[in-house]
Amino acid sequence: MMTDPGRFHDHAFIRACRGLPHDRVPVWFMRQAGRSLPEYRAIRGEGTILEAIADPDLSTEISLQPVRRYGVDAAILYSDIVVPAHAVGFGVTVTPGIGPEVEHPFRTAADLDRLRPLDPDADTPYVLDTVRQLVAELDVPLIGFAGGPFTVASYLIEGRPSRDYVHTKRLMFNDEALWHSLMDRLADMAIASLRSQIDAGASAIQLFDSWAGALSPPQYERYVLPHSQKVLSGVADTGVPKIHFGVTTGELLELIRDAGADVVGVDWRVPLDRARARLGDVSLQGNLDPTMVMAGVDAAIAGTRDVLARNAGHPGHVFNLGHGVMPASDPDVLAEVVRVVHAEGRVEVRP
Ligand code: CP3
Repeated sequence: MMTDPGRFHDHAFIRACRGLPHDRVPVWFMRQAGRSLPEYRAIRGEGTILEAIADPDLSTEISLQPVRRYGVDAAILYSDIVVPAHAVGFGVTVTPGIGPEVEHPFRTAADLDRLRPLDPDADTPYVLDTVRQLVAELDVPLIGFAGGPFTVASYLIEGRPSRDYVHTKRLMFNDEALWHSLMDRLADMAIASLRSQIDAGASAIQLFDSWAGALSPPQYERYVLPHSQKVLSGVADTGVPKIHFGVTTGELLELIRDAGADVVGVDWRVPLDRARARLGDVSLQGNLDPTMVMAGVDAAIAGTRDVLARNAGHPGHVFNLGHGVMPASDPDVLAEVVRVVHAEGRVEVRP
């Protein structure tokens, strides 16, 4: 299965993804790079996020900042899930304080023509330059990523961040053929993007289907699972660990695993021991409530110890928050979380 064990095959993060014993509980944070860091705000400049992402020197530096500050066990590429759709000219912008916005949302079959296949070398060379620069500088694995087809579709169809996904679900329920055509194109874009990041040196990938929790299990199974399965099986031959994550996916965890993940991302609403009882021996990533970091160092440490206790020494655990670092988080609290995970996390070798 493993075609290229890679430079970091012995690293605690990669071994934990595979459920293999290692010497310490690895930890990284979703959104570890970004607005919570003063050094990020200092260098970020005035441009849009998409402009920052298109600048490999800047993106490289931003991705490195949390690794230097916290000593986390993995870096994540500074990019965004809408970069591929933006790069093929769909017309996506990212508005500060709001998120991705689309001037002409996806509504009819004619809009499929606005989603040509992604050619990563030509369309997102800056992403690949950033990956290559990062890999040259890092002494921990780099996580590449893509948005899950559902979550990207939700932005393209709604035109902006949404609470209820009315337009998305209307299309899904009223024109299932068009829905599957759209999802298939987004799956192909995610595969092309992920494979290019892996070719450039990423050691693991995460599929962010952040908003999949908007669906019931039968809805997810019919409208999303086949496409996420396609993405994950489309990178399986590379041999890198595949993390699959969404928020409020408590009722969907088995399906998220069945889509082909090596590591299931668990948000803070499902205690890790319950997730493990349900999912069996797949590795888990998570799941400290990000607002416990905002509540201060005592709350964050208590929460960290609770997550470690619930994992109970299982080798298949990557410590993380249950969702991204909130922009107003205190970096010193996150530094304490890393210190506690490394000092107190135990990995038991089981017979
Ligand atoms: O943290 C930051 O503030 C950095 C800059 C930033 C990114 N995207 C980088 C990013 C900002 C402000 C955005 C815009 C954006 N894109 C938002 C936030 C809107 C806001 O101002 O608060 C959102 C929700 C998106 C869409 C998006 N991008 C989603 C749903 C995800 C998946 C992760 C998640 O939070 O559920 C992303 C990925 C993303 N955007 C990453 C980065 C660096 C990679 C993931 C990571 O760092 O863990």
